[in-house]
Amino acid sequence: MSDPQAPATRRLYIRTYGCQMNVYDSERMADVLAPLGYAMTERPEEADLVVLNTCHIREKATEKVYSELGQLKVMKTERVAAGLGMTIAVAGCVAQAEGEEILRRQPAVDLVVGPQAYHQLPELIARTHRARGERLAADFAPEAKFDALGASRSTSGVTAFLTVQEGCDKFCTFCVVPYTRGGEWSRPAEAILAEARSLAARGVREVTLLGQNVNAWSGEGGLGGLARQLVRIEGLDRIRYTTSHPRDMDDDLIAAHAELPQLMPYLHLPVQSGSDRILKAMNRGHTAESYLRLVEKIRAARPDIALSGDFIVGFPGERESDFEATLALVREAGYASAFTFKYSRRPGTPAAAQPGQVDEAVKDERLARLNALIESQQRAFNSAQEGRVLPVLFEKPGRHPGQLSGRSPYLQAVHCEGPAELIGRIAPVRIDSAARMSLSGTLLPEAQPA
Ligand code: 5AD
Ligand code: SF4
Repeated sequence: MSDPQAPATRRLYIRTYGCQMNVYDSERMADVLAPLGYAMTERPEEADLVVLNTCHIREKATEKVYSELGQLKVMKTERVAAGLGMTIAVAGCVAQAEGEEILRRQPAVDLVVGPQAYHQLPELIARTHRARGERLAADFAPEAKFDALGASRSTSGVTAFLTVQEGCDKFCTFCVVPYTRGGEWSRPAEAILAEARSLAARGVREVTLLGQNVNAWSGEGGLGGLARQLVRIEGLDRIRYTTSHPRDMDDDLIAAHAELPQLMPYLHLPVQSGSDRILKAMNRGHTAESYLRLVEKIRAARPDIALSGDFIVGFPGERESDFEATLALVREAGYASAFTFKYSRRPGTPAAAQPGQVDEAVKDERLARLNALIESQQRAFNSAQEGRVLPVLFEKPGRHPGQLSGRSPYLQAVHCEGPAELIGRIAPVRIDSAARMSLSGTLLPEAQPA
């Protein structure tokens, strides 16, 4: 998409916070800005344009944005004194949720742009060069955004994200997403398949379908049907998807896991809590029992599936007995990995106003206990791979010379010695040892390129 003739005279620094949707959006923003001559830099102090792609999900994430803006303000002042400029744009969910607040709190910010308006970035930036403080109402149709941004490039060249769904209608009482990202919207199948074909043609072997509620994708045939179409694309060897909601995990998608070897045996299926009382207060629309039965059904279809999840400790009203129910659920379900969070009060969400807010010290203590349990399950899951031979998709050179780095079907990082020609290919690796976050192994002799 970028014009190789365009002079790269300007530098762009993008900082991404939060979820994979933001990672994907940041790549698209770099794409639309490249034709204007913006080349990426890792150093904000030498950037003509800085974009912070922000996350609003927890208070800490939001506060980080303001502290980063404080540092950028200093750099901007120095650049202006040196006769250079710096345009600062805030994108993402904080921009969407509190754009006015950002402009008020940090005068160094030139532009605030919400997730649906990224295709207009070039025009907006041109406008801020004429007048500062331009602000955009960010409620454009998502479709317009995708059409204008076009097909994606992937950072590693071997794997790529592909957004298929945005937004959420579930209204969990703790969560800002339904307010920041809007209602559920599914991208049309044709657009998704076209982007997937173009990625595969450029050497991408693995796509991860993205959506806040990816399995709520409402095109014909649902997400299972979409997966069946995607696996027919020549060269696409691996399909993943994230994040799923238990309520949208239908039988057909489960059947697709049994049917399609390309659909990787890894599932991120957040449950948040193991207490029915808390699940109800969270408005999750499922119980601990229904979640466990669902996991059972998925394992019947794909016995080796690696389960991942999200958990919140210290939701308002959570008692010790509720927290113990969460630990019990974790023990019963068995996780290969998980993300754990202390409940963070988000203004405007129903739970923020609820009585029974839990003490920080209690949250800390519960988080530590939950983390210890999850960590032990993660180690056990990784250790169970020792001695097995796994097909590894190699993505890049490893940290040491002669090393390669790739991923197992279960999304574990795998390191082994091997030739660079294997990057972009899947080869069998015998797993020799496991750590908490990664595996190391030996390439099988038949995997050596001729
Ligand atoms: N406090 C803590 N964690 C939260 N999450 C979402 N909102 C909050 C909040 N207010 C977590 C949930 C969700 C993940 C993306 O972030 O676990 O699944
Ligand atoms: Fe937030 Fe719940 Fe929607 Fe997930 S399902 S994005 S936690 S409201």
